[in-house]
Amino acid sequence: MFDFITEEHKMIQEAARDFAQKAIAPIAEHHDETGEFPIDTVRRMGELGFMGIEVPEEYGGAGMDTLAYSLALTEICKVDASHGTIMSVNNSLFCHGILKFGTEAQKQQYVTPVATGAKIGAYSLTEPMSGSDAGTMASRAVLNEAGTHYIINGTKSWVTSAPYADIIVLFTMTQPEKLHKGVTAFIIETDKPGFKLGKKEPKLGIRASATSEIYFEDYLCPVQNRLGVEGDGFKIAMTVLDAGRIGIASQALGIAEASLEASVKYAQEREAFGQKIGQFQMIQQKLADMKCRVDASRLLIYQACLAKQEGVKTGRRYSMEASMAKLFASETANYCAKEAIQIHGGMGYSKEMPLERYYRDAKITEIYEGTSEIQRMVIARSLTGLR
Ligand code: CAA
Repeated sequence: MFDFITEEHKMIQEAARDFAQKAIAPIAEHHDETGEFPIDTVRRMGELGFMGIEVPEEYGGAGMDTLAYSLALTEICKVDASHGTIMSVNNSLFCHGILKFGTEAQKQQYVTPVATGAKIGAYSLTEPMSGSDAGTMASRAVLNEAGTHYIINGTKSWVTSAPYADIIVLFTMTQPEKLHKGVTAFIIETDKPGFKLGKKEPKLGIRASATSEIYFEDYLCPVQNRLGVEGDGFKIAMTVLDAGRIGIASQALGIAEASLEASVKYAQEREAFGQKIGQFQMIQQKLADMKCRVDASRLLIYQACLAKQEGVKTGRRYSMEASMAKLFASETANYCAKEAIQIHGGMGYSKEMPLERYYRDAKITEIYEGTSEIQRMVIARSLTGLR
């Protein structure tokens, strides 16, 4: 039916499904329980090409397209959204940004190790007092007198993968008086003096994906590690988030699909009042609504992937398509995870089954990389052209 899905797409989807079921399924519950970062499986995902799916082969990636990335990420998240979060940050928030805006030297030095999974990448935009209003940052980067280094100071928060990250794409203010036009992007090596890690955040879900604050105290960033030109940081951050939001939509779809599949199976097996529960109209209504929302999410994701692939060639922005996919898929993931628990009753509430993990993991997809409220703002602004 969807002739844009090629044999190559099906192969990477199958490879991701196989890896998720064999390597991730047996350990997902342990990592959720303990919050341990799954570094071994992440490295193996890198060896299989999952950490840089859209990265050209010359920079260590799989050289595939956005659809391939989305299909693979959905399969990983169908089993464990924590692994999916780490995968999505490496692929879209880190590699995509440097590939699009970096110099040749930056691509060779920083994209290759992250695309192969040898190193972990991160993306840092948010601050304690700057979340949705991303253009208002308190952190600062000041060029030194010799013009060789930026001196960076400040606190960034909610940085996914930060405790394990080797390299971070950082957004900070070089000219605060210019507001969003004063933001500049930098590539930060975390093993240098002046970089400090804050405490790991205790989280409701995606507990195996490590998140923390990071601190800069007179961190010296060489001028050649500036990403793009001074003042272009806000646009770089937003462009990268457009790509990232397709990843989060794909993650949400994986959680929703897993919730639906478990519910269908249970409805076929479980009996009450002398019949299968799938014969009750109230269960049928839940399953039907879940299925419609899952398929609608998938179609919005396909639309966003194709819009991005077209946008790479033409330069056309795909912000609206990416936000529509993220908004609808993330609300679908939350709906499906909630209904899956309801269908399973006490079993759904128990840690004996992964449904309560899906329910906890689903919530973040409505929050990170732009809340549902922000996605609605982006969609409406794209429709009206009004600010
Ligand atoms: N692509 C390119 N340029 C863009 C853009 C995009 N997607 N969105 C905005 N811009 C440009 C605009 O064209 C405008 O350019 P000019 O100055 O030349 O006119 C400029 O950026 C400012 O745009 P806005 O006036 O629309 O900016 P705004 O201040 O009103 O903000 C917003 C818009 C959509 C609310 C934006 O701030 C936003 O998306 N906020 C949410 C931030 C977010 O997602 N944070 C999560 C961060 S990462 C994370 O979750 C953690 C993690 O580790 C995963």
